[in-house]
Amino acid sequence: MENMTMMRSSILFSGLIILCTLSSFTSSAAELQRFPHASKANGSISFLILGDWGRRGAYNQSQVANQMGIIGEKLDIDFVISTGDNFYENGLTGIDDPQFEDSFSKIYTATSLQKQWYSVLGNHDYRGDVEAQLSPVLRKLDSKWLCLRSFIVDAEIVEIFFVDTTPFVDKYFANPKGSVYDWSGILPRNYYLSNILKDVDSALKDSTAKWKIVVGHHTIRTAGYHGETKELVTQLLPILLENNVDLYVNGHDHCLEHISSPNSPLQFLTSGGGSKAWRGVVSPYSPSEMKLYYDGQGFMSVQITQTELDIAFYDVFGNVLHKWGTSKQHYSFMGCLLSLCLVACAAELQRFKQAPKPDGSLSFLVVGDWGRRGQYNQSQVALQMGLIGEKSDIDFVISTGDNFYEDGLTGVDDPAFNESFSNIYTAPSLKKQWYNVLGNHDYRGDVEAQLSLVLRAIDSRWLCLRSFILDAEIVEFFFVDTTPFVDDYFTNPKEHTYDWRGVTPRAEYLSNLLKEVDSALKISTAKWKIVVGHHTILSAGHHGVTEELVTHLLPILKSNNIDFYVNGHDHCLEHISDSDSQIQFFTSGGGSKAWRGDIKSWSPEELKLYYDGQGFMSFHMTKASADVAYYDVSGNVLHKWSISKEIDSATHRTFTYS
Ligand SMILES: *[C@@H]1O[C@H](CO)[C@@H](O)[C@H](O)[C@H]1NC(C)=O
Ligand SMILES: *[C@@H]1O[C@H](CO)[C@@H](O)[C@H](O)[C@H]1NC(C)=O
Ligand SMILES: *[C@@H]1O[C@H](CO)[C@@H](O)[C@H](O)[C@H]1NC(C)=O
Ligand SMILES: *[C@@H]1O[C@H](CO)[C@@H](O)[C@H](O)[C@H]1NC(C)=O
Repeated sequence: MENMTMMRSSILFSGLIILCTLSSFTSSAAELQRFPHASKANGSISFLILGDWGRRGAYNQSQVANQMGIIGEKLDIDFVISTGDNFYENGLTGIDDPQFEDSFSKIYTATSLQKQWYSVLGNHDYRGDVEAQLSPVLRKLDSKWLCLRSFIVDAEIVEIFFVDTTPFVDKYFANPKGSVYDWSGILPRNYYLSNILKDVDSALKDSTAKWKIVVGHHTIRTAGYHGETKELVTQLLPILLENNVDLYVNGHDHCLEHISSPNSPLQFLTSGGGSKAWRGVVSPYSPSEMKLYYDGQGFMSVQITQTELDIAFYDVFGNVLHKWGTSKQHYSFMGCLLSLCLVACAAELQRFKQAPKPDGSLSFLVVGDWGRRGQYNQSQVALQMGLIGEKSDIDFVISTGDNFYEDGLTGVDDPAFNESFSNIYTAPSLKKQWYNVLGNHDYRGDVEAQLSLVLRAIDSRWLCLRSFILDAEIVEFFFVDTTPFVDDYFTNPKEHTYDWRGVTPRAEYLSNLLKEVDSALKISTAKWKIVVGHHTILSAGHHGVTEELVTHLLPILKSNNIDFYVNGHDHCLEHISDSDSQIQFFTSGGGSKAWRGDIKSWSPEELKLYYDGQGFMSFHMTKASADVAYYDVSGNVLHKWSISKEIDSATHRTFTYS
């Protein structure tokens, strides 16, 4: 599970473009395919860069891979970049070449490396079936793999421009020696090259990212064996300089190298030490420009925030060979414009992925309103969740909020995190990812503590964001921050103090959130759509209906044909089957204190369950069916409900009750 945002709403993206266009950006960016990659919750990004590697583990390839795994974990990397020459000696023979597994999948096995890999092609890759490496079939074999000739990764604070450099090099055409290059797709060559240069130039000009990185296989500045690539020096370098690119990163020379000139901010970085190295050839180079030349194997790391960029080079033992950093405090015109766009367009919802089981099914539990240090039957509910969780082999847990009573957490070091979460939900079956939203009680403490990555470091199950998307293939979950919708907390907070940091100005926050949810729902192609929030929409419980959500959120849920709305807030277990729409409203707010004793009258046609006491819910879903069940503190089933969908139709439904 990681935030691999392979598909961000193109609607949002065009929104950004339109806004930026209004602010004088005219030509919209190039033909280059774009891959959005969300930054970490705190806005930073980190990644590794590796080049010239695929040799079935030989020549220290495996040792480098091993150290990448260790450093990758330490830096909590978001992705990996390959600078090409992915498979030696002659690329892949086809999509079924076993070398794909032998040199890639079976080598980079560390957990931290199971992230998206963004790869360009090197000259050796062009000596095989070049289209094999570009094929989506490889992505099916190993979902980390993503290789295109030229493309853009938009990681918010940094934009990375991948350039296909091999076709620039004259000698591969004029004097290929014994090698046969697969030039399919790049002819006529002059046309291909001039288009790339134009696309890269205009994409760089349109970019409002704080940092810009260009990645290619071939060298521009190097003291290594191959030396400088004169075609890139004359054709690509002027574009990099003109557009204030921060880093040019390449492979090709089998070494690690850092060159920069005192009168230009552009850094030239070679990371080509993925396997065979020790060439023993180094040309003399100005010592004021040569920051590192290492003739052996290794890789590099990059860590970026809004203001800092830090790189490091590592050898096969993980020793740091060289470190360098720079900062940009100064907010340029572009920077201001970017923040304007960000305010106006609002951050698109962060996306997380969760793979279903191999049989295509998905099981999870839902609990809400729980954190009371085990009191009020919290521990009993936790115990039963552990048993049912094991029986249904759950994939994850959802919390509908009010995670910590009475007033959220006081900070990231609040022992309530241990006492109400880590030390309560101890069953092995509950050691899965927890996806949490915030409730109104959470907003009464240090709200940012619950969102902090520090908690994830203390207990890796913890994942709490205000609003986000979980893409579980057959089901897409839309987690919505509902507390800021409720007028009373603002106009009549009584003795409570709410932490509204990050939520003001409120009107803008809410309208952005509704827009984001609506457009994310519209582009969703998942078979099932489930929206999760803390507050009720339809409920017969103590708090009852949340009018603000009925007015603002419910129309969006209806118009996008969601299947279920799941909430907490009322401390009960409840199932309302809306007679106005196909939406099922599930309340799972029985994680601890319950027995409120007040229930409003509700149409018996719609109210399938109201249980005033403690408990939780389970879901079992496939492409074609969903089964939900409600359990009390003793694990007794209070209510079961099922629905099936024909595989090809979202409308034909059959209902069964028990
Ligand atoms: C952002 O979070 C990561 C942990 O995922 C951490 O390593 C990094 O130091 C944080 N950066 C800042 C600027 O807080
Ligand atoms: C593997 O790395 C070690 C340490 O850098 C080096 O001494 C050795 O020559 C390398 N082996 C190969 C085959 O390159
Ligand atoms: C714990 O659960 C039992 C069984 O439902 C119930 O009788 C009892 O009142 C609950 N205790 C509390 C403190 O809610
Ligand atoms: C939580 O418990 C773990 C071990 O169970 C301990 O290492 C950690 O310091 C505790 N944290 C707090 C904030 O109590």
